[in-house]
Amino acid sequence: MSKTIIVSNRLPVEFKISGNRIQSTPSVGGLATGLKSVHATGESLWIGWPGLTSEQIGDFDVALNRTASESRMANVFLKQAEVRDFYFGFSNKSLWPLFHYFLEYTLYDPKQWDAYYRVNQKYAECVLAHAEEGDRIWIHDYQLMLVPSMIREKRPDVSIGFFLHIPFPAFEIFRTCPWRDELLSGLLGADLIGFHTYDYVQHFLNSVKRIKGFSVKFNEVDANGRTVKVDSFPMGVDFNKFHFSAAKYEVTGQQFQSDLVNRLQDHLKQYPDSRLILSIDRLDYTKGIPNRIRAFQYFLERHPEYIGKVRLVMLAVPSREDVPQYRKLKRETDELVGRVNGKFATIDWTPIWYFYRSLPYEDLVALYTTSHIAMITPLRDGMNLVAKEYVATRIERDGVLILSEMAGAANELSQALLINPENMNQISETLDQALRMPLEEQRHRMEAMQKRLSRYTIEKWANDFVTSLEKTVRNTPNPAAC
Ligand code: ADP
Ligand code: G6P
Repeated sequence: MSKTIIVSNRLPVEFKISGNRIQSTPSVGGLATGLKSVHATGESLWIGWPGLTSEQIGDFDVALNRTASESRMANVFLKQAEVRDFYFGFSNKSLWPLFHYFLEYTLYDPKQWDAYYRVNQKYAECVLAHAEEGDRIWIHDYQLMLVPSMIREKRPDVSIGFFLHIPFPAFEIFRTCPWRDELLSGLLGADLIGFHTYDYVQHFLNSVKRIKGFSVKFNEVDANGRTVKVDSFPMGVDFNKFHFSAAKYEVTGQQFQSDLVNRLQDHLKQYPDSRLILSIDRLDYTKGIPNRIRAFQYFLERHPEYIGKVRLVMLAVPSREDVPQYRKLKRETDELVGRVNGKFATIDWTPIWYFYRSLPYEDLVALYTTSHIAMITPLRDGMNLVAKEYVATRIERDGVLILSEMAGAANELSQALLINPENMNQISETLDQALRMPLEEQRHRMEAMQKRLSRYTIEKWANDFVTSLEKTVRNTPNPAAC
């Protein structure tokens, strides 16, 4: 029976070796959360990096491969220098900032580009070693943009899909990359290339036309005689899973693993009128965390009537700590939180509760369900699944979502209160609007968003992509490698 080979930089779990035992923790981020649901239901093999360097793995490689294969996964082992130059290097010092419009953070180093090329080849070889006749290969995200053409060269017959989980930037931004041509050629080895939004599709096609000079008809590229289809597939969430977990939580009111959630429950029992504003993200400069804190401070200054009554619960999960900008952001966030709390706190009230850690799934759901408002303010975000998860957990259809118009999710969630993350005054007034919003209006908005999210689930997203890939391959049998 044929299978889908999912290929992503990271596996859905990170392995740790403790003594002579192998432990695993779930990987954080939209790609891992989303594809985990797909992998759980399908006939699939997931190829990716286990999160440890080969040096850390030492003699545990065989055991690690055995553990991975029990969950239908295969490891790509990366040496410390590869992690440094490919992952922390070209992927996260060049492509991540470039694609999120942070040109001032973008560094180009030919040594890191070479590592990116070589590691992409490593992934391609691993895929080729596992691919059997009839399998479809689905490659994910910016770390692996060269893999489609590397596989295509060796196996012109297989069907290859690629999905980008981050924005594809406008041509004027993308053209600044010294390896723009190679990146586009790499992607065009696929039969189908998917993005979250229509805008990203247009940006990509525009770059293909202007950099490669290929002709584009509607959403099909003629890549030297091969047809490549390009389309948008907005990624959804496992709506039922979040919805029913929230319902279960409401019924049982159970104790949670983390002290944080238990303390929040106690707080709400003690002060039933207090209002919780939630924000959850990886600690990433694209997520607009400093803007959010500054806007919250501005809000407290402009609306002193809320002092003592609202609290911002800010959860940030550690991410990419070897990249200097992430360490700088951590320091900046600590300072800003300290400044606001120092300025406004009273004996029994702290305006910002800030936590720098990952939470287990149940506790995350409990946080969503106990918060009256979710404030999600990225400066740029491919999709943002947190916004969708928050909506999915609101079983009473109450609560307000404040969402940046720079997140891909804003295209679908037009009933959220949309804000420009750079506009402090707008965020402050929107917070006031959210806190005063009548229950009826909250329900009206939530209901519309839930309706959409319960239709366009993660399952539907995966099915749509795979069906479209099959159709593309059937309708346009491609002659050979590009
Ligand atoms: P990104 O992919 O850029 O990290 P998304 O919002 O699309 O952003 O996805 C983030 C995912 O990570 C969500 O599924 C969310 O539930 C999960 N997540 C974010 N913060 C935490 C945290 N502190 N603990 C556990 N999971 C988290
Ligand atoms: C985003 C990216 C993913 C990445 C995730 C976590 O969601 O699109 O590709 O896996 O962030 O980042 P990390 O660098 O820890 O894998």
